Amino acid sequence: MSSTYFFVLLFVVFVNGSPLKETCTATVWDSGTGPCRAAIQTDLECSNSALDIGQTKYVTCDAVQFSWSYPMNNLTITIGTQYTYQRKPFTLYLDNRGQTIYRIHDGGQETEITSRDKVIIQYSDANYQIILKFQEADTIGPYLGFINYKVAPQ
Ligand SMILES: *[C@@H]1O[C@H](CO)[C@@H](O)[C@H](O)[C@H]1NC(C)=O
Repeated sequence: MSSTYFFVLLFVVFVNGSPLKETCTATVWDSGTGPCRAAIQTDLECSNSALDIGQTKYVTCDAVQFSWSYPMNNLTITIGTQYTYQRKPFTLYLDNRGQTIYRIHDGGQETEITSRDKVIIQYSDANYQIILKFQEADTIGPYLGFINYKVAPQ
């Protein structure tokens, strides 16, 4: 067996044969256009990626603009803010881009909050955070998806 053939075979097994990974951490970095604008990248072979804003510098932002490259499968974002650390309830105003969105409650239960409203409003939970799951198609689609929100104390 030639080595070329072997590598082609290996590639096919990897790309088509491997099941989706269950949980992965999304990466996020400055998109260079402002302090509260960032780019999100997820692993295309992952069914559920997670991003904890409370562990990033964007925790201090009252308005963020994220661009998610190659949005696919699920991305769960834990929205922590400065109010989380102050233990103060806050309200989230999310620009509705028509995505399928779930609110994840303490204990992991999901409630679908997909809506036709221009802005989706959510209130922080008992941990002073808001966990949202964005569900995208399971095939590669548009290059960018956008997740923009503002937060304000209640
Ligand atoms: C994404 O999450 C939804 C809702 O929990 C679930 O039905 C779906 O199977 C998940 N997608 C993948 C690729 O795991």
